[in-house]
Amino acid sequence: MSEPSATSLLSLSPVIPVVVVDSAEQGVGVARALVAGGIKVIELTLRTEAALDAIRAIAAEVPDIVVGAGTVTTPARAKQAAEAGSSFLVSPGLTPSLLSAMADTGLPFLPGTATVSEVLSVLEAGYTEMKFFPAEASGGVGYLGSLPTVVPDARFCPTGGIRLATAPDYLKLANVGCVGGTWLTPADALATGDWDRVTALAAEAAALG
Ligand code: 3PG
Repeated sequence: MSEPSATSLLSLSPVIPVVVVDSAEQGVGVARALVAGGIKVIELTLRTEAALDAIRAIAAEVPDIVVGAGTVTTPARAKQAAEAGSSFLVSPGLTPSLLSAMADTGLPFLPGTATVSEVLSVLEAGYTEMKFFPAEASGGVGYLGSLPTVVPDARFCPTGGIRLATAPDYLKLANVGCVGGTWLTPADALATGDWDRVTALAAEAAALG
């Protein structure tokens, strides 16, 4: 699948699955299961040794999904994720050097924000799409709903504590393009290769669009 343009990351899917894998094989399995359920984007978090290999394997073996890297926390990780074949990058927060390293990759990216000052930093750098993390713990729907009056150009992918039941409340907000979450890919389903369960969870999430 072709790379998303810099302005389209929030429009790829109502839900970006945030995924933690233990092996490249697990990554390929979960990516195929998500596609079967109608979700065509996957964010592999750089929280495990296997993440970069999983990104490489998915980019090579699952052409129907857009694969990106999440939990990008350092400039070096941004570069590694791009070299592994990521089509986009997501960070849980931002520093000036992380922001410029993600921009240097040439890939679309979502820098993480949780405060108005951080949103202003991202806007000042010339970007309007960002992650809002940790969404529930940072004020959730009420907080995001109060932002357009002061930062009307900012658009968000809230992530952190969101589940199927609460996702619609976020998706109703005009400044929310999509939500992210791990609920589609439970660790026990990945560990046992229960791909039917992942496909069913993906289908429920895809129907939110
Ligand atoms: C993330 O990295 O965005 C979070 O781990 C997702 O949070 P969740 O596990 O509560 O969905």
